[in-house]
Amino acid sequence: MDPTPKVALIAGVTGIVGNSLAAQLHDPNAPGGPWKVYGVARRATKPDWLAEPLHYINCNLLDRDETLSKLSPLHDVTHLFYVTWVSRPTEEENCEANGALYRNVLDAILPNAKNFQHIVLQTGNKHYIGPFALAGKIPVPDPPFREDYPRRPCPNFYHTLEDITFETVKRQQQLTYSIHRPTAIFGFAEGNLMNMVSTLAVYAAICQYENKPLIFPGSKIKMCWDFMQDASDADLVAEQEIWASLDPKAKNQDFNITNGDVFKWKRLWQLLAKEYNVRAEYKNYESDHHQESELPKKTIPCKSLQEMMKGKEAVWDKIVKEKGLRPTKLADVAQWWFVDSWLGQDIENVSNMNKSRELGFLGWRDSEKSFLCVLEKSRKNRVVP
Ligand SMILES: NC(=O)c1ccc[n+]([C@@H]2O[C@H](COP(=O)([O-])OP(=O)(O)OC[C@H]3O[C@@H](n4cnc5c(N)ncnc54)[C@H](OP(=O)(O)O)[C@@H]3O)[C@@H](O)[C@H]2O)c1
Repeated sequence: MDPTPKVALIAGVTGIVGNSLAAQLHDPNAPGGPWKVYGVARRATKPDWLAEPLHYINCNLLDRDETLSKLSPLHDVTHLFYVTWVSRPTEEENCEANGALYRNVLDAILPNAKNFQHIVLQTGNKHYIGPFALAGKIPVPDPPFREDYPRRPCPNFYHTLEDITFETVKRQQQLTYSIHRPTAIFGFAEGNLMNMVSTLAVYAAICQYENKPLIFPGSKIKMCWDFMQDASDADLVAEQEIWASLDPKAKNQDFNITNGDVFKWKRLWQLLAKEYNVRAEYKNYESDHHQESELPKKTIPCKSLQEMMKGKEAVWDKIVKEKGLRPTKLADVAQWWFVDSWLGQDIENVSNMNKSRELGFLGWRDSEKSFLCVLEKSRKNRVVP
């Protein structure tokens, strides 16, 4: 292994995978370590739940001048872990904004960091199913999704990021990359853009507070409830990214990254309900049917989480106060749209994990345990009750 001291720059260090990366890279026994770690995010100061010691840099990476001024002096960076994104109303705008953000980071690092070796680019399995805005509108290939499936013929900011990576590596001979595609991530973070576990925990806490059942919001009869799905534990995603950043066999490759098992929401839903001592229900029909025999044959409209949780801001404020949680607003910890889109899927959303296994990455998680473990961490950090 290359003996040069490793220096990581994590773009998005307060994010769901960013903070797992920081924690793992700080471990003196980390692969390739000891690492020096820089971490970037917009929030003014480093949250107390982030690993120490971290060289925290607050910077809006969309601001080109600020990015060049704050990141250009980091001459010692050897590895970039790019685990950030910004959300825009349309996918064309996502391509533009995320492309600009990524270029700003690369333009600050490339001319200045003389021993820059590897880019870890995290995208996701929307590479296969298409962006949120086009859900259900483009054909989806047969699951389990494999890395060698061709790109979907639609705009996707993941393609923009990949293309920038390919161009960059072509120009810089010593530089390599790896692309990582998690599916729904089970991980701890506060104030990030998509968080399955905290959103569901907040929903369950509100149901408990209002003495209501925990209704499964999936919009197609028994589809997502009963189909096999997979998930990606945030720590496992970080493990694969660190492995790929160091192992020559993983250079210039794209990888799926999921827990390596499958689960069903109908079991996970019961576990969540038990944690909050509420009754689990999956029949969320306008007609209020409760008998299997009464279920209509076709999909019928039912309430989404966005509808069910509309106007619950004040309830969350009360929960935060009464349970002594960190001071958050509902929008900081619950993204109803994200969970609605995930649980409303009518496909078996499963990715194939063989490629990275064949190359030597053997990590895995039990998805149910991963979910409960992240919930426990979120409770310990007083983000959810
Ligand atoms: N979350 C999931 O379940 C999931 C699943 C599959 C794929 N993915 C993909 O993974 C990639 C990374 O997403 P993520 O979910 O890991 O991100 P995330 O948890 O939302 O974290 C984003 C990070 O970037 C920072 N950030 C955002 N805008 C910034 C800006 N303008 N300048 C500087 N820092 C900024 C955020 O902190 P501040 O807010 O403090 O700036 C945060 O640290 C995306 O492509 C996403 O589509 C995510």
